[in-house]
Amino acid sequence: MCGIVGYVGPQDALDVVLEGLRRLEYRGYDSAGVAVRIGDGASGELASAKKAGKLANLEKLLADSPLPASTIGIGHTRWATHGGPTDRNAHPHLSADGRVAVIHNGIIENFAALRTECERRGVEFASDTDTEVTAHLLAVAYDELPAGPDRFAEAMRVVCRRLEGAFTLVATHADEPDTLVAARRNSPLVVGIGETADGTAEYFLGSDVAAFIAHTREARELGQDQVVEIDRTRGLSVTDFSGAPAEPTAYTVDWDAAAAEKGGYDWFMLKEIAEQPRAVADTLLGRLGENGQLVLDEVRLSDQDLRDIDKVFVVACGTAYHAGLIAKYAIEHWTRIPVEVEVASEFRYRDPVLDRSTLVVVISQSGETMDTLMALRHAKDQKARVLAICNANGSTIPRESDAVLYTHAGPEVAVASTKGFLTQVVACYLVGLFLAQVRGIKYEDEVAAIVEDLRGLPDQVAQVLEQMEPVRALGRSLADSNTILFLGRHVAFPVALEGALKLKELAYIHAEGFAAGELKHGPIALIDEGTPVVVVVPSPRSRESVHGKVVSNIQEVRARGARTIVIAEEGDEDVVPYADHIIRVPRTPTLLAPVVTTVPLQVLACEIADTRGYDVDQPRNLAKSVTVE
Ligand code: G6P
Repeated sequence: MCGIVGYVGPQDALDVVLEGLRRLEYRGYDSAGVAVRIGDGASGELASAKKAGKLANLEKLLADSPLPASTIGIGHTRWATHGGPTDRNAHPHLSADGRVAVIHNGIIENFAALRTECERRGVEFASDTDTEVTAHLLAVAYDELPAGPDRFAEAMRVVCRRLEGAFTLVATHADEPDTLVAARRNSPLVVGIGETADGTAEYFLGSDVAAFIAHTREARELGQDQVVEIDRTRGLSVTDFSGAPAEPTAYTVDWDAAAAEKGGYDWFMLKEIAEQPRAVADTLLGRLGENGQLVLDEVRLSDQDLRDIDKVFVVACGTAYHAGLIAKYAIEHWTRIPVEVEVASEFRYRDPVLDRSTLVVVISQSGETMDTLMALRHAKDQKARVLAICNANGSTIPRESDAVLYTHAGPEVAVASTKGFLTQVVACYLVGLFLAQVRGIKYEDEVAAIVEDLRGLPDQVAQVLEQMEPVRALGRSLADSNTILFLGRHVAFPVALEGALKLKELAYIHAEGFAAGELKHGPIALIDEGTPVVVVVPSPRSRESVHGKVVSNIQEVRARGARTIVIAEEGDEDVVPYADHIIRVPRTPTLLAPVVTTVPLQVLACEIADTRGYDVDQPRNLAKSVTVE
């Protein structure tokens, strides 16, 4: 949610900033803007440009009216919160004297009081945003401080101490030819440190490492409530809001720029769907030890802590929440610990019963989703143990958790999560098996077999992907549908929810997922002649004839005129008489089946959206990483 880029170095700042914004556009695309500092010597000027809509609009504006060359600049791509998605509300925001430009991600909750204060001093606001106050406050704070190398960073600290809410701020000042300052509280910010071919140092700021991955993989992770200064000659310095020095954590990004390119695919989403066998394999890599022991990345919990757990909550948002629903089936079955799954935005407000014997598993691809972060903090306040499943190294959620299992999906650029989801599901299995291993196992043979079955998943996902041409053709034939329903039972129920969510968010078609058994209690009334109904069928080997019941559900909807699209295991002949279309998936143990059955639903949604002429990677109104509550 909102992408932020900053650059200080020998290259043309605008080129670097625009390239970074292209890679961050998935974070928000309501508007885009840049500011550069121009002029020689201590006293210069700022030049800026901003435009509502996608980054392409700003690029066109800059092509028509270029900004002067500069080696220090900032850029922003916006997901609107305060103030509509207009030119006027686009970032950067400038101070009244035009000497300071600020970009912001987050929400400044006390902005109204600060705005009144500025207005009393005679400042006229040029936007409806909460952000603009920070530009005015920063200009005043800077002017009130004595000249000196720390002046700009100190001005930022003075302002941050007055702000409430969530913010990443990056600022440039006309009087600062070599320095950018930035701050973070509850919103993401990482630093990149690079070197050009001739050995000149260069520094980057970004909402995530994608912003500078084309230039460097050397990153620094910042802590909560920190101010960072990047300076052409002095390099990097970090303090807390009171000015006490802080040490950022160094890490090297384990993917390169090519991983964040489309690589010949029409859409990032298609590329990311195709990457799933690799992503699943990487998530399993090194976790399934030779002796059947499982290994987590960072476990700051003792085995005794894990043995003491008597309840698990899984907390997440959106697609990650669906991964959590699947986790419930697996973790309860393997460990016999009760598991509750909850959307993060509801979790803390209903005062859940938590204590030190509760394990809260938070799932987040980005590691920055504010609802999930707040749920995590609530859980920790209540003394619960928190384990994060996360894809983004260096993000806030893993840093604040007691234990972390990274999904090694690589960068996910398309807003709709695909490989992020599949790897979250796999990570949930690993957590379930890890807990079972530490605590002693009820179904020992079954768990040992599952560990072996996990190794087969990458190949099975690859097999599904080889058979997607008929699914794409089916998608094209469904593109004019008004409603599509998704049914599933047991672990196929969350898969149905995920299939419906994918369709809603990409194709803007009304879609709903139901537990197939609930159908007769209401939703069946929705079925009309020709209504497409996608049914995710469990394996014929599933427990207590769930399979047979779902086959009956297919008959029920067909009898009422539905066009039935059935996802069924190879060799499942029972579904054939009732299916208008069959999509086959490989035989997989029941609990692992979501990893294969979700894939055709991703392809289907992508194809329907593409056929309807929509931007698959950047669906309207959405952002990939939602860093406001
Ligand atoms: C947003 C995205 C969803 C995503 C959800 C959770 O709503 O549009 O695709 O599932 O956030 O994101 P996370 O990064 O926490 O997994």
